[in-house]
Amino acid sequence: MIVQANRLDHVEEYYFSTKLKEVRALEESGKPIINLGVGSPDLPPPPQVMTALQQALLNPVAHQYQPYRGTTDFRQAIAEFYQNFYGVKLNSETEILPLMGSKEGITHISMAFLNEGDEVLIPNPGYPTYAAVSKLVGASAVLYDLSEKNGWLPNLEELEKKDLSRVKLMWVNYPHMPTGAAGKEDLFRELKAFGKKHHILIVNDNPYSFILNEEPESILKHSEGMEGVLELNSLSKSFNMSGWRIGMLCGSEKNINSVLKVKTNMDSGMFFPLQAGAAMALRLPREWFKEQNKVYLQRKEELVKLANALGCHYTEDQTGMFLWCRVPVGTTSEAFVDHLLKQYHIFAAPGFIFGSQGEGYIRFSLCASEENIIKARKRLTA
Ligand SMILES: Cc1ncc(COP(=O)(O)O)c(C=O)c1O
Repeated sequence: MIVQANRLDHVEEYYFSTKLKEVRALEESGKPIINLGVGSPDLPPPPQVMTALQQALLNPVAHQYQPYRGTTDFRQAIAEFYQNFYGVKLNSETEILPLMGSKEGITHISMAFLNEGDEVLIPNPGYPTYAAVSKLVGASAVLYDLSEKNGWLPNLEELEKKDLSRVKLMWVNYPHMPTGAAGKEDLFRELKAFGKKHHILIVNDNPYSFILNEEPESILKHSEGMEGVLELNSLSKSFNMSGWRIGMLCGSEKNINSVLKVKTNMDSGMFFPLQAGAAMALRLPREWFKEQNKVYLQRKEELVKLANALGCHYTEDQTGMFLWCRVPVGTTSEAFVDHLLKQYHIFAAPGFIFGSQGEGYIRFSLCASEENIIKARKRLTA
């Protein structure tokens, strides 16, 4: 008998990978589902980006192995993007590492910095991959609670009361998924001071800063030397390119080199046309985000009506591509999601999948057309 590795004993298959099978089965049985569950942008990428990809296909080097660190032009485009949109100056040769989506970066960073038995601070609620990958590398996930009362921000004073001596790394994700709490300069300053004091590497996962967010921020701003911080970023949400698998890691040369040691043993560079297209996207003017956000805003207005009709409560200050709502009293997030699915054929993400602090909440995605969101609301009274 072939037995799987012990490291898989505490890792579950990703919730969506199983739940979406159920959604598909319902669909195949003739029930059209309105999917407000997943955060996979349905809008098209910028047209110039697709043209750049097509043209790059004809470049004679396009089909060869590419540099492990990404092409020079793509790294320069990332540096320009960080300078123009976040006011952060990066050295494109040493402080930037292109990734195949930011999700793979979570694994690379964990492998580069965590030893077995190290502790990792993980937001609850938060993106499930942080905890799953920590377990895969044999580290222990120490959850820090976020709550609506605290604006879904970490309570660093509370955290300092704990024994932090074994904590090596802290995941933060502002703007925060699933709650939509914004990333503010003050918050990042406090986090960096906390990390420095306790010798904890602070890693901000920043894929949502351009969606319905007036002030995109980076944790790398005013981080002299960047020794204690890293930032992941992604083109998946900002440019509707989730299927392209393009992300990036930015930080100090020393930390980037540690991650590079892992990554060079895992893949052999990214397809050249993808990098050419991504570079084009990163050089687009602000107008791109403005136009995209007009669409998201209209969708959000409709989503708010749906949430109201369902008796869900939400706060007004949310950024990002979701609406995070408290479910009506007397039900659980899972029961509520199942009820929506069975009764109205509407799919949303239950809060518990993001951690115990997500229980009692539900996440609606803005990645559905306005028309479908309206249709979802009409189903409630049909
Ligand atoms: C908080 C967070 N981090 C990272 C990712 C992964 O993004 P990417 O497509 O860049 O791998 C997601 C995707 O949903 C996310 O919500």
